[in-house]
Parts: sequence; structure tokens; C-alpha cells
Amino acid sequence: MTTIDNKHRLIGNSPPMQDLLRLLERIAPTSATVMLQGESGTGKALLAEAIHQASPWAQGPFVTVDYTNIPASLMESEVFGHEAGAFTDARQRKQGLIELGSGGTVLLDEISLLPVELQAKLLGVLETRRFRRLGGTEEHEVNTRFLAATNDDLMAAVESGRFREDLYHRLNVVPMQIPPLRDREDDVLRIAEHFLLEYTDRHGVGKRGLGQSAILLLRAYAWPGNVRELRNVVERAVLMSDREIIRADDLVIDRRTYRKTPGGAGISISEDGDLTVRLPSAGMSLEHLEREVIREALRRVEGNVTKAATLLKMSRDTLRYRIQKHDLSE
Ligand SMILES: Nc1ncnc2c1ncn2[C@@H]1O[C@H](COP(=O)(O)OP(=O)(O)OP(=O)(O)O)[C@@H](O)[C@H]1O
Ligand SMILES: [Mg+2]
Repeated sequence: MTTIDNKHRLIGNSPPMQDLLRLLERIAPTSATVMLQGESGTGKALLAEAIHQASPWAQGPFVTVDYTNIPASLMESEVFGHEAGAFTDARQRKQGLIELGSGGTVLLDEISLLPVELQAKLLGVLETRRFRRLGGTEEHEVNTRFLAATNDDLMAAVESGRFREDLYHRLNVVPMQIPPLRDREDDVLRIAEHFLLEYTDRHGVGKRGLGQSAILLLRAYAWPGNVRELRNVVERAVLMSDREIIRADDLVIDRRTYRKTPGGAGISISEDGDLTVRLPSAGMSLEHLEREVIREALRRVEGNVTKAATLLKMSRDTLRYRIQKHDLSE
């Protein structure tokens, strides 16, 4: 098939992918901390797993600390663990995610969302290779490979003071940039064919192939949701059509991303998220502009308020308030 190396599930043979796989082979056996950067859906989590599998920690656990899914109030104890009695609800000792990843790999996912207060603590762990549970006095050793991932511009976060520069450098020992799918045109068809096999098999339907019109559309489309969007489009085509040869019509591509905004007062947003504003002679309020930008941010991160807040460089509470104000909640 099209996989370069059977040890992992990353499909792709385009020049940027070949570079990435070469880098993977070079750094996986080391203990270097790797920073995976790329747009949403480009394959950061998959690449992290591939690094784990090709590393000396492969027999150990692979633990993901996903900062989007941990409420800020619980973050410290989720990540570092706590001793019994460390705070009101802490009845029993609890192991944190860093401890659970001992002997394996810990992926610090969406690292830009780590609150500033905890950034210092994480830096301490990375530097001393020791940690303390919340409310504990004893120090424990960490024998873990750390990887970090983000789709945020971390350098910008450093410049605006949201992210500690020392932690940034500590994590960014080996940067790995995963290019968006639109820059890997040669890979789109390979990956689509891989997903076709996966879904015809999973849903127990007959063999499917890609027709010429489907191939043209797949290659022409900009894939703002990257490989995740491609996966969904292929699965839907397998489920919705009985045709053996898939045509362009069978691919439900989200054409709303080309849309003019409803009510349209001079604002349009392209599939790449480029915003064009023309001031109509009838005028336009900044309120209206704000509403459309917030709507676009929410669409891009599939409604995840935390991620949208990061994208818009505002606090989650501010964004929540504005979502309500503009009546944008689903
Ligand atoms: N090169 C690839 N070959 C095969 N499948 C891929 C590839 N890249 C990504 N995928 C698949 O695409 C989906 C999205 O990948 P993944 O979750 O790793 O993206 P991500 O960059 O972590 O996204 P997010 O920033 O939204 O967390 C997954 O189902 C993954 O298996
Ligand atoms: Mg991810």
C-alpha cells in the first residue's frame, strides 16, 4: 500500500511528508522533547503516537494530557496528581497523568491552553525530571518521553505574555511542523483510498473506487479541516451511495465554507478563513463585524469555546459573554 513504513499508520508520500517521516526516524529513538505544530486535523495526535511506537518507550503507556478537556480548576490535580486531603474533595491519593505515563510517552496536547500558573510547574518537572503530587512533600522521579502539540501560534502567545518563553524553548527542542493537507496535494488521493478501504471494510459494503470527477474535486478542494475532514467526507460517501465508482456528487463537501455570510452586509469569508470586508454605502456596524468573526472562529474549531477563545485572543468568559450577546449559541 501507500504507507512508507509499516510501523505506523501515517499515510503519505509527498515531499513534505517524506521530510517529516525522515525526521521521525531520526528523533523517535532519542529522549528529545518534540513540539508538533499544525492546523487542526493535520495528524498531530497520529504523529505523536508514531513517535511513541518507534521509541524506546514503545512498550510503556502512551498518555495524552488534553488541555482542552480539563477544566482549569482541576488541571493541576489531573496532571500532577494529589495526596489524600490536598483539598476538600481529595479523599484519596490520585495519580496524575504525568505519573500514569511513567515509563512511556506523555503527549501534552493543546499546550497553549495550559494556564500560566501551571506553566512554571511543568517547566520544573521537565527540568528536574521530578514532580510532587498536589499537597505532597515527597518528590517522585519521572521517566517519561514528553511530546507537545498545538495548532496555535505559540511564538505569538509568548510575545503576548500568555506563554512562558522558557517553557516554549524547553518544549521546542525539536520542532515538527505538519503542513496542511492543501500543501500535500499528492497525498490527498492516497489518504482517501486508505479511508475508502477502511470504511468499506468497517461498514461491510462492496469495493469502491474513485471516479474522475471525484478525483478532480478531492484535489481541488482546500480542506480547511485537513485529514479529519477528508476522513468524514469519505465515510459519508461510502455510507450514502451504492455506486461502485464514487463521483463528485457523492462527496458532500462543506460548501458553506465558500459562503457569503447571511444578511451579507459586505462580509465574506473564504474556505481558508480569509476575511473580506467591503463597507457598504448603507454602512455597517462593528457589532456586525464582531459577530461574523466570532461565528467563523467557532465554525473553525467545531464550536469548541476554549479553542475559539484562543483563536480570538480573548478569555473564555469574554467569549461566552459575546456569544450570548450575539445570540450565537446553538
Ligand atoms: N497522514 C495520515 N494518514 C492517515 N490518517 C491520518 C493522517 N493524518 C491524520 N489522519 C487522521 O485524521 C484524523 C485527525 O488526525 P489527528 O487527530 O491526529 O489530528 P490533530 O492534528 O491532532 O487535530 P487537532 O488539532 O484537531 O487535535 C484522525 O482520524 C487521524 O487518524
Ligand atoms: Mg489532536
